[in-house]
Amino acid sequence: MNIQAFLLEKTIDALISIGAPKDNKIYIRTSNKLHFGDYQINGIMSVAKKMSISTYQLAEKILPLLKLEDIASKVEIAGSGFINIFLNKKWISKQIELILQYEKLFIHSVKPQTIIIDYSAPNIAKQMHIGHLRSTIIGDAISRTLDFLGHNVIRVNHIGDWGTQFGMLIAYIEKIQLKNTSNIMLDDLEIFYRKAKKCYDKDETFAKIARNYVVKLQSGDEYCRKMWRKLVDITMIYNQKIYHRLNVTLTKNDIMGESLYNNMLPNIVNDLISKGLAVKSNGAIVVYLDEFKNKAGNTMGVIIQKKDGGYLYTTTDIACIKYRYEILHADRILYYTDSRQHQHLIQVWDIARKASYIPMNMSLEHHIFGMILGKDGKPFKTRSGTTIKLTDLLDEAIKRASNVIRKKNPNISEKDLQSITQSVGIGAIKYSDLSKNRTTSYIFDWDKMLSFNGNTAPYMQYAYTRISSIFKRANIKPSELIDHVILVNKYEQSLAIRLLQFEEIILSVARKGLPHIMCAYLYDLASLFSSFYEHCPILNSKNDIFKCSRLKLALLTQKTLKIGLDILGIETIEKM
Ligand code: ARG
Repeated sequence: MNIQAFLLEKTIDALISIGAPKDNKIYIRTSNKLHFGDYQINGIMSVAKKMSISTYQLAEKILPLLKLEDIASKVEIAGSGFINIFLNKKWISKQIELILQYEKLFIHSVKPQTIIIDYSAPNIAKQMHIGHLRSTIIGDAISRTLDFLGHNVIRVNHIGDWGTQFGMLIAYIEKIQLKNTSNIMLDDLEIFYRKAKKCYDKDETFAKIARNYVVKLQSGDEYCRKMWRKLVDITMIYNQKIYHRLNVTLTKNDIMGESLYNNMLPNIVNDLISKGLAVKSNGAIVVYLDEFKNKAGNTMGVIIQKKDGGYLYTTTDIACIKYRYEILHADRILYYTDSRQHQHLIQVWDIARKASYIPMNMSLEHHIFGMILGKDGKPFKTRSGTTIKLTDLLDEAIKRASNVIRKKNPNISEKDLQSITQSVGIGAIKYSDLSKNRTTSYIFDWDKMLSFNGNTAPYMQYAYTRISSIFKRANIKPSELIDHVILVNKYEQSLAIRLLQFEEIILSVARKGLPHIMCAYLYDLASLFSSFYEHCPILNSKNDIFKCSRLKLALLTQKTLKIGLDILGIETIEKM
């Protein structure tokens, strides 16, 4: 149930019926104070101005035309012309009953779109590190959200699997005469790459061989392709294990790395030249973009082909976006990439639009995120000052979660401890990240994220298990709850209204790509449930009708928490 959208539609209908001019500044807000009702119509002032009447007069005119008899118990004008809407308890109860019948809580997408989500995107021959965490888990949470809404979601792992480093690696593996390449580990590859780079920089013969391998790889040489494939596989098998541990939905099939577009690049360059967008400049091929000026105020040039014939990251992304439109039929593309790549992306989009590779109105969004900082406010590093590898971070989360759980529950069996620890430890890292507005940086804090108080994974997971245990104690199956929902006090009512707002929240997360909105909602919901539970006896209720009604509210809370946490990629557990 999208109450906001429903009320907006009614408001607009009422305005149209009195001949008001169209205005898109009108919006429906949830009220933050009880005496303002549950929802408020805002922004009719601008319409009143256009009609040369006061906001109050306009409010008075539309009030009787709103047709909210079913949904509202009271609609009143407040202040200079806000309209407060008090929802009707009977209507709320009916909606609760309705959505409770549906597995997806009666939520459906407005209009399914094909949406590409470009996230994670590690580079080959390197371990994933803390810098990949935000893109990976935020991108995944948004993919899950859009999936839930019924969109055609295409997850894309745009891995860095092409470039000169492969020439170096192949040359190096040959140089050290490594016969058995089948048990190379990712750690080895990292060392190989570092050593290969050293050789490349100081040994001209080695550099020549390496460059030659790049050319051979580009032209499809069988040996080079085989070696390249091996290097990619070693890395991605390893990364796949990290995705699995992180409960991230990316699979092998989502890999569409830079190499995929390699064959398109010569045509892209020729085409941009023939369209008059790209020109030769000092031997390189450059696109000049009038909208972009450098520090000196001159038009900025984006190189798409180097003097030596090599292509660039930008060239690949231009080909890639063309592919995503022509082959994948994307309506919308979301990029979860480091904010330092913002300029790069808007240049790519600009070029792609000018070349008509994509329609003007295609929605392209760079969902930037801040940095993960240590307690000193600087980028979070290991004690010795090196980058934190994701595996190490996850190991530590499990260790710490295990201590926390054991302390809380000293008699827990080893088996239970293990499975709970997994969900809590990984959940804690993910939730602490997702619960912050992604556009800002935050300080990584083990103690806070593993706390059972506050907006944390353990708190949310615990809230969920509490409801599970109510049902266990009640020894009642959800299908046995036949009496209707009745809302007698404010605790029940507040909880019920918040439950009905789930759809608004999920749509807002989907639109803005901001998972923290979901976290804040779930936290609020869990807190409302807590006060409801404290003030409204469920199992000890004197009246069976109340008991059933309250169990239904508990059940819907549990379902909502479950779906909300699922969407965030956070596991729920049955006991803790
Ligand atoms: N591999 C890149 C990096 O590590 C991120 C790729 C982002 N996606 C894209 N289409 N450029 O920085």
